[in-house]
Order: sequence, then structure tokens, then C-alpha cells
Amino acid sequence: MLSSTSQIPILCLLLLFLLSTTIFQTCNSAQPGNCNEKDRSALLNFKLGVDTPSSNTLSSWSINEKDCCSWKGVQCDNTTRRVTALDLHQQYLEGEINLYSLFQIQFLTYLDLSFNGFTALNHLHGYSNNNLSNNIHYLDLSFNRDLHLDSLHWLSNFSSLKSLNLSQINLQNQTNWLYSIDMLLPPSLLELRLSSCHLTNIFPSTKHVSFTKSLVTLDLSANYFDSELPAWLFDRGGDMNIMHIDLSLNFLQGQIPKSLLSYSKLESLRLSYNELNGSIPGWLGQHQNLKYLSLVDNLFHGSIPSSLGNLSSLVDLGISSEFLTGNIPTSIGKLFNLKSLFIGGNSLSGVLSEKHFSKLSNLETLFLDATFSFDLDSKWIPPFQLNGLILSHTILGPKFPAWIHTQRSLEYLEFPNSRVSSVDGDTFWRFVANITEINMSHNNISADLSNVTLNSEIIFMNDNNLGGGLPRISENVVFLDLHANSFAGSISPLICHKIGRENSLDYLSISYNLLTGEIPDCWENWKGLSFLLMESNMLTGELPPSMESLIDLLILDLHNNSLSGDFSLDLSNLTNMEFIHIGENNFSGAVPVKMPHGMELMILRSNKFEGPIPTCINKFRSMDGAEKTTHYPFEFNLYFKGQELEYHDYGLLRTLDFSANSLSGNIAKEIGNMKNLESLDLSQNKLVGEIPDTISVLSFLSFLNLSNNNLVGQIPVGTQLQSFDISCYAGNPGLCGAPLAVCYHEPNPDEGHNDTDKEDSFRQSLYFGMGVGFAVGFWSICGPVFFNRTWRHTYFRFLSTILDKLHEFVAVRSSN
Ligand SMILES: *[C@@H]1O[C@H](CO)[C@@H](O)[C@H](O)[C@H]1NC(C)=O
Ligand SMILES: *[C@@H]1O[C@H](CO)[C@@H](O)[C@H](O)[C@H]1NC(C)=O
Ligand SMILES: *[C@@H]1O[C@H](CO)[C@@H](O)[C@H](O)[C@H]1NC(C)=O
Ligand SMILES: *[C@@H]1O[C@H](CO)[C@@H](O)[C@H](O)[C@H]1NC(C)=O
Ligand SMILES: *[C@@H]1O[C@H](CO)[C@@H](O)[C@H](O)[C@H]1NC(C)=O
Ligand SMILES: *[C@@H]1O[C@H](CO)[C@@H](O)[C@H](O)[C@H]1NC(C)=O
Ligand SMILES: *[C@@H]1O[C@H](CO)[C@@H](O)[C@H](O)[C@H]1NC(C)=O
Ligand SMILES: *[C@@H]1O[C@H](CO)[C@@H](O)[C@H](O)[C@H]1NC(C)=O
Ligand SMILES: *[C@@H]1O[C@H](CO)[C@@H](O)[C@H](O)[C@H]1NC(C)=O
Ligand SMILES: *[C@@H]1O[C@H](CO)[C@@H](O)[C@H](O)[C@H]1NC(C)=O
Ligand SMILES: *[C@@H]1O[C@H](CO)[C@@H](O)[C@H](O)[C@H]1NC(C)=O
Ligand SMILES: *[C@@H]1O[C@H](CO)[C@@H](O)[C@H](O)[C@H]1NC(C)=O
Repeated sequence: MLSSTSQIPILCLLLLFLLSTTIFQTCNSAQPGNCNEKDRSALLNFKLGVDTPSSNTLSSWSINEKDCCSWKGVQCDNTTRRVTALDLHQQYLEGEINLYSLFQIQFLTYLDLSFNGFTALNHLHGYSNNNLSNNIHYLDLSFNRDLHLDSLHWLSNFSSLKSLNLSQINLQNQTNWLYSIDMLLPPSLLELRLSSCHLTNIFPSTKHVSFTKSLVTLDLSANYFDSELPAWLFDRGGDMNIMHIDLSLNFLQGQIPKSLLSYSKLESLRLSYNELNGSIPGWLGQHQNLKYLSLVDNLFHGSIPSSLGNLSSLVDLGISSEFLTGNIPTSIGKLFNLKSLFIGGNSLSGVLSEKHFSKLSNLETLFLDATFSFDLDSKWIPPFQLNGLILSHTILGPKFPAWIHTQRSLEYLEFPNSRVSSVDGDTFWRFVANITEINMSHNNISADLSNVTLNSEIIFMNDNNLGGGLPRISENVVFLDLHANSFAGSISPLICHKIGRENSLDYLSISYNLLTGEIPDCWENWKGLSFLLMESNMLTGELPPSMESLIDLLILDLHNNSLSGDFSLDLSNLTNMEFIHIGENNFSGAVPVKMPHGMELMILRSNKFEGPIPTCINKFRSMDGAEKTTHYPFEFNLYFKGQELEYHDYGLLRTLDFSANSLSGNIAKEIGNMKNLESLDLSQNKLVGEIPDTISVLSFLSFLNLSNNNLVGQIPVGTQLQSFDISCYAGNPGLCGAPLAVCYHEPNPDEGHNDTDKEDSFRQSLYFGMGVGFAVGFWSICGPVFFNRTWRHTYFRFLSTILDKLHEFVAVRSSN
């Protein structure tokens, strides 16, 4: 529910950070001369295990190049010419990490192989007689996601290690990870990061481990520790050097232990996204060195202690819990070093005054998500210049406040659900035009936008009372959501006005408005569109031919308008398209077949399509076996048994819905080729003949409706066809067999299958299918997004809600 830039998934942030740093640095190879021959052959040996299928990054590591100090990623001491560091992060390397060859490099102290695709760590191939101790201080193997380590014994050779990072490596089977680290690594370890390693046990009742004494940084975030905070970390009585603790994104329970008070060097404490309860302890205010305190999304009760105002070093403060009550203490206004403040919770309330912000001159982002109201002078000039302001569920209105206009460097401004109903006409729209991301959804803002040109990259203005004609947009706009407003008239002003440069529009929703007239033939201007949502308006006429030029289109939703004519568009070149919903219109003629192959969802219900179901529908590639590729950041509706069910992105079903048309003839046998079809609705047509046997091959089918046709004969036996409700077959007087009444000639029972077995495996396959689809969706979004700056905020927030869902999902699974 609560979301902010301060809760961007940690893993993704790390990823972004690394992608944004310059790709790589090689050592300075200006000096002539050769490197040490032993070092050189050890490196070549290491290269033997490495695959580089998608890059050329180790091409400089050549037998012909004698000076290995000039090889990519290799650093040498300039006087001794011995190799001291190897940094090959994010070089698209795969295959095996041959650690033991690197151990032969006597002066190697730094080894970074993070963000690659290594799949194995080698064992002692041929090195058993050699000296395996090494001088490596820094070892980073993180983000090699396909690396599954069953053992950590190899750590025993790292007797000089100071920093170990195995984040994002699968250590699921390493049940004794804590003891391994404690036994195998030197007690002088300073940094340990095991974030997102699929660890399940934090050994809550273990009292003593020796490595924590010198440890400075401990990151165990994003694992599945379903227990209390561990005694080995928190019940130590103070002999600790620890400065950075990150245990966020786990399922940790219980209260913040008082022993923490003795960890006087603590600079960052991150406990967000857990299930910690009790109150937020007042003594936290005594941690004079604390700079980062994140307690977001826990189960804390009581009020926010005013002593937090004593944390004069604090730079970043995040607190939220649905059980916290009361107001924000005014002492928070003393935190002059604060750059980022997030406070949220359904039960928090109160009036915020100028005193709450009096010394916050360094504040850069302010995020409040609670029913706070504001008592600020209309001429108040805040001490800060924010670059991000989010006031969600606050009582900000009815008038958009003047003090926000004083913020001249805002990159994002969001005030969804904040009871604003009026804005200062031209002044407001000129102000907004300078802001990169604006979210004013779910207010009750009345304004006429017919003379306004919107300029922000990401715009959420949905669910307001905005009206007049549609606004124009500049070439900067990427995402525009105007749904659920009162815009009237034609869509031409928006679509047909000339934009100078090439535009960036990717997402356009003008659905649920009062728009009328025909869809204009101006789509050649908008070739970059991926999402086009114009449903639930009063649009009429035929679809214009220029829509065929929307070659990047992924989703087209035109349902619930009054569109008509033959659907003669040839969309077969729109190869990304997966979703088309043109139901509840007046389209006529034959079922459209010039569709791209990747379709996953096609809804034609409640039109006047007639004639047979074409046999070529089986060409939809993803319905016949390909992996699901995309998941949609919004909900959509799917009708079943007259009910409207809501599906969120990961519940997306592969659907064909041709119901309530005038289709005739038989059900095409080829329907059985769409092996991954999950929902099929052919009800309320004029279909005749028998249900083809091939339909029983559709083992993923979880919704079926064939009611109200003229189908006859026996319902095919198999898979789950018999488990559907009678109503799925009703209104076909000639149909018989389970689940309907027995046919006159009941077939030989030996031909039947074992129903209980079938049903079980069906359920399993559904369950499994959901898990796989979910994971694929998660990572496919995570992948490409990082390359596109403009999508960062939006998708991060989207991702963080997905992460929440993932947690719920895991919670449900582990509690079973
Ligand atoms: C070694 O090289 C680095 C970078 O080229 C340089 O900054 C440093 O001063 C050199 N050190 C010595 C001892 O020459
Ligand atoms: C093994 O290597 C370490 C460091 O590389 C060195 O200090 C030690 O003396 C070597 N031991 C033997 C027996 O060669
Ligand atoms: C290195 O690891 C091997 C295999 O685990 C072990 O036999 C050997 O004793 C280790 N050597 C050192 C110096 O820790
Ligand atoms: C791994 O951990 C080290 C030590 O904390 C850190 O410096 C490094 O940035 C981390 N690597 C990645 C890829 O985050
Ligand atoms: C964990 O061990 C089980 C049983 O040996 C194996 O099936 C599974 O693939 C292992 N998981 C990982 C991530 O290595
Ligand atoms: C806090 O959580 C612990 C562990 O889940 C539970 O035993 C305890 O009753 C909770 N306390 C409160 C006040 O909810
Ligand atoms: C810390 O804050 C509390 C409450 O605001 C106050 O009573 C106390 O004197 C402060 N302590 C210090 C050391 O400033
Ligand atoms: C918009 O930004 C420009 C350039 O940064 C600035 O000159 C102008 O005053 C800003 N306009 C408003 C209304 O903030
Ligand atoms: C829009 O601009 C036109 C021409 O300048 C003007 O006649 C009209 O009143 C304006 N409409 C609104 C709603 O401001
Ligand atoms: C589809 O693409 C092909 C190849 O680019 C082109 O020849 C054809 O005319 C296009 N069809 C339509 C309907 O745009
Ligand atoms: C059907 O399943 C039942 C219960 O699992 C079993 O007893 C029976 O042998 C099975 N029949 C066939 C034909 O497989
Ligand atoms: C905008 O606010 C709405 C809440 O009304 C929320 O659902 C949506 O996720 C927000 N968009 C962004 C990008 O934060």
C-alpha cells in the first residue's frame, strides 16, 4: 500500500547503481614491459573456464599479449608489475569461476566478478598440491543469479578476507551458512553481504558467533527469515564495531531489542518490510551517529517518539505502520541534516504546522502518506527546495496550496487521494509543465484543459473531474493517464495536433470519459505507443487505417464504445501485440484474423461478428506453448458466469472470448492446438455440431463457457471438462454427458480416465504455472527497465508493490 522512492527494491537499486557507473576501467598500460609470468599463466588458466557467448570482453586476454597488466580488468602494482586486482564486473561472462587458478596470483587482493552469468565455482582441479592460501581481501561474486552453491567450504582458503559479497547467489541448500562463515572466515571480517540469497534460517537463538566482533557491515536483506531478531547480533552487550545493519525485506518479528543502544557506532539501521511490533523505542534518539533509519512497513504500535528529533546526524528517516497513531512530533523539524523523510500509516493523523519543517533546510524528498492536514500560512516559504514531494491520502485541499509553487526544482510531485478540487488555472499548468513526473490522481479537480499543453514525462491525472476538450501534449510525454474524468468531444485535438520533434508517447489512456466522434486517422504520429486504452467512451465509426502503423503496440483496448463496421485492419505486423479487447461495440462481419501471432488475450464479446470461427486461430503463438512474456501494470476485467472477476498482472489468463456474437458453424478442431489456452468463452452464439474431442487437450483451461449455442452430442471426456459447472454447457438442448445428464448411449467406462488423478495433476499444473509466470514477469520487467531513465520512478514503485506481492506469495506458500 505504501510506496516511495525510499522503498525502491534494494536489489534493483544496486543493479541500477552498477549499470549507471561507467562500464569498466582498465589499468593504465602506458608503461612498457611484461607482467609476471606466473600471474599471466594463472589468468589464462582462469580464462579457460570462462564462456563469453554474448560479448568479446576477454579478447584482450591474449596469448600474444605479453603484458597482462594491460588486459581488461587487470590491475598491477606499477613498480613490481604484479597483478593486484581483477575487476570483471558486468562483463557478460559465463561458465565456471576457477578460483584456484586465481589463488596462484600471489599478490591478488581484490576480486570482483559481480553481475555476470557464472554458473559454477570449480573444485580443486589439479591444484591439490599447490599452496591454496591467498591474500584476497575483497571478494564480490554477487548478482551471478544462476550460481547455486551447495557448499561454502571453499571459503576456508580465504584467510585474509575482509569483505565478502554473495548477494543474489542461491544459497538455499546451505543450511548452516552462519556456522560456515563463522568457522571458515577470519574473525577480522569487516563486510558481509548475503542479500537475496534464499536463506531461510537466521538462527535466532544462537548466542555467540565470533565474526560479529569486528564486523562493520552486515546485509542480510531480502531473505526469508521467518523468526525473531537473532540473539547473535542483538544480544551481544556492546562489544561491537558494527556501523551498518540491513535486515529489511524479511519476515522478522518481535521488538527492537534495547541492547542495540550499546552499538554506539551505528550509522545505518534498516529494518523495513518486516513484521516487527511493539513501539518504536524512544532510546533510538540516543544514537547520535545514526544517519539512516528505515523502519518502513512494520507492525509498530504507539506513536512516533519525539526523541527522534535528537538524531542530529540523521539524513534519511522512513517510518510506516498501519498501527501507528498520533501526529508527527514537531521535534522532527529540528533535523537539519535530513534529506529524505517518509512517514506513513492509515491511523496516523494530525495537523502539520510550519514548526514541523522549521530547520529542514536540506530536505530533498518529502513523502507523507496519512490523513495529515496542514496549518500553514498562505504566504509560508518553506526552508527547503525539494526535488520530490509526495503527499498521499493527506488533506491537502480543497485548494492546491501556494507553498508548493515555491518549489522550483521539483522532479516529481504526487498528491493522489488528497482532496484537492481546485488549482490556480494557468499558473498551475505552467508550474506542472516543469515537473518530470506528476501524479494527481483520485482528487476531485475541476479544470478545463482544452487550451493546456502537458509536458511532464509521466502524468497520472486519472479519477478527477477534468473536462472540456482533451489537452495537447508535448513531445516529452511518455506516459499519460487521463482515465475516469469528464473529457468530452473529439479525440482529434490530442491525437492530430502536430508535434515538432519525434514524440515519446508510450502509454495513453483516455478511457472512461465522455469522448465522442470517430477515431481520427492520425496514428502515424504515434508509432511508439505500446498501450492504447480508449475503452468506455462513446466513440463511433470504423477504425482508421493508420492504426496499422502502431507497430509497437502491446495492448489495445477499445471495448464499450459504439464502434462499427467490418474489422478490416491488418494488425499482423504488430508483432508485440498480446492483448486486444474490442468487446461491447457494434463491429460486424467476419471474426478478425489479421492478428499478430503473439496474442495472449483476444476479447470480441458482444459485437455482431458472424460466420464461422476461422480455423487459423490456432496460429496464436503464445497460446500454443511459448512462454508468457509480458505482464501488465494494471488490472483488467474478465467476464465469467456473469460475474466480473478482477485479475492482477500475474493472474493474466490466456483468453479467447468470442461470446455474444452471431458466430455459426462448428467449433474449429484446431482449438486443441492452443495448448496453453486458459480461458475460452464461446457462449451466446449460433454454434452447431459436436464439441471437438481436441478440446480435451487444453489442460490449462480453467474457464470454459459454451452455453447458449446449438451444440449437440457427447461432451468429450478428459482433463477437466467434466469439472466445469453445468452452467458452462447450459442452453444447448442437444448436449449430453458429464457434467450434464448421461447420454442415451453411455460410452464404455474403460474408455474413461481416472478422474481423481487427473484433477490433482491439473491443480498442480495450475499452481506451478502461476509460480513460473510470476517469476518470469517479475524479472522481465526488472531487466530492460533500468536502461530507460524516464521509467524509473514508475516502474520502481510498480516493482516494489510486486515485491510485496512476492512476499505475500511466499508467506502463503510457507505457511502451508
Ligand atoms: C601507479 O599508477 C597510478 C595510476 O596510474 C598512479 O596514480 C600512482 O601514483 C602510481 N604509483 C606509483 C608508486 O607510481
Ligand atoms: C602460501 O602462500 C602464502 C601467501 O601467498 C604465503 O604467505 C605462504 O608462505 C605460502 N606457504 C607456503 C608453504 O608456500
Ligand atoms: C584450502 O582448501 C582446501 C580444500 O577445502 C583445504 O584442504 C586446504 O586446507 C585449504 N587451505 C588453506 C590454507 O586453508
Ligand atoms: C558487495 O559488497 C561490497 C561490500 O559491502 C560492496 O562494496 C559492493 O558494492 C557490493 N557489490 C554489489 C554488486 O553491490
Ligand atoms: C537443493 O537441493 C535439492 C536436493 O538435493 C535439489 O533438488 C535442489 O536443486 C537444490 N537447490 C539448489 C538451489 O541448489
Ligand atoms: C509481537 O510479536 C510477537 C512475535 O510474533 C508476538 O509473540 C507478540 O505477541 C507481539 N506483540 C504484540 C504487542 O503484538
Ligand atoms: C532527546 O529528546 C527528548 C524528547 O524530545 C528530550 O527530552 C531529551 O532531553 C533529548 N535528549 C538529548 C540528549 O538531547
Ligand atoms: C520552468 O523552468 C524554467 C527553466 O528551469 C524556469 O526558467 C521557469 O521559471 C520555470 N517555470 C515555472 C513556472 O516554474
Ligand atoms: C481557449 O483558447 C481560445 C482561443 O484563445 C479561447 O477562445 C477559449 O476561450 C479558451 N478556452 C478556455 C477554456 O480557456
Ligand atoms: C507488413 O510488413 C511487411 C514487411 O515490412 C510489409 O511489406 C507489409 O506491407 C506490411 N503490411 C501492412 C499491412 O502494413
Ligand atoms: C483410479 O484411481 C483409484 C484411486 O486412486 C485407484 O484405486 C484405481 O485403481 C484407479 N483406476 C485406474 C483405472 O487407474
Ligand atoms: C499515483 O497515485 C495512485 C493512487 O491514487 C497510485 O495508485 C499510483 O500508483 C500512483 N502512481 C505512481 C507512479 O506512483
